[in-house]
Amino acid sequence: MPATPRTTVKDLSAMKARGHKITMLTAYDFPTARLLDEAGVETILVGDSMSMVVQGHENTLPVTLDQIIYHAEIVGRAVERALIVVDMPFPTYHLGIHKTIENAARIIKETRCQAVKLECGAAQAEIITALVSAGIPVMAHVGLSPQAVHQLGGYKVQRDEERLLNDAETAEAAGAFSVLLECVSSNIAKKITEKLRVPTIGIGAGAVCDGQVLVVNDMLGLTNGYVPRFARKYADLQGVITDAVTRFRDDVRNGDFPGDAESYK
Ligand code: KIV
Repeated sequence: MPATPRTTVKDLSAMKARGHKITMLTAYDFPTARLLDEAGVETILVGDSMSMVVQGHENTLPVTLDQIIYHAEIVGRAVERALIVVDMPFPTYHLGIHKTIENAARIIKETRCQAVKLECGAAQAEIITALVSAGIPVMAHVGLSPQAVHQLGGYKVQRDEERLLNDAETAEAAGAFSVLLECVSSNIAKKITEKLRVPTIGIGAGAVCDGQVLVVNDMLGLTNGYVPRFARKYADLQGVITDAVTRFRDDVRNGDFPGDAESYK
């Protein structure tokens, strides 16, 4: 029996029932995952956003299954309490049900993480059901699908109410334990949140969702370049790091580092 019980997918449903808002942040490394866990965030996402914020790619498409498993295993070792969800990279769930289960099972077996997330519409219902039947909890990512950026022609707010409601309801009926809503107009997110029994987690989907997720690099002020309007910046770590590194550089150049206290006799 572990000292601190891990958050489970059932706990998230109970939180929705109690009206207790769920918090979720991304993490890709040990120290960040440990800090988020100790701060009491209930859910950690090893997101395919790592392709952009860690690997420096222009979109989420290049990250591979082996790479996300590498990071998820590190995050899994750091976390004692939070539920950890791992993104299935493109196209690890597009090549048939057998291959999808094989790929998702690798994530669960190799990482101490408890669930996978897939970008899906109603067309992926069969895949969700197959994963759930294999005992693998699924978070359905509905709305803006960054993995379909070339098909969508850019990152745009999603306003097709009928399609979004259908995608979310189909995902719930197929067995998803939660629906993440990305870049969905707030009034549609409200309707979906009220209709579903499972919790909705929003990113750019308004305050009414049952929980909120952000990319940790965006909220800590560590992202280079474009940051979406929905990402509130809670810290300026870029400024903190640049200041520390500049002072180190100057101290070394001036002979002020190392001092006596940092040297051995
Ligand atoms: O990969 C990611 O970071 C995501 C966001 C929606 C949080 O999926």
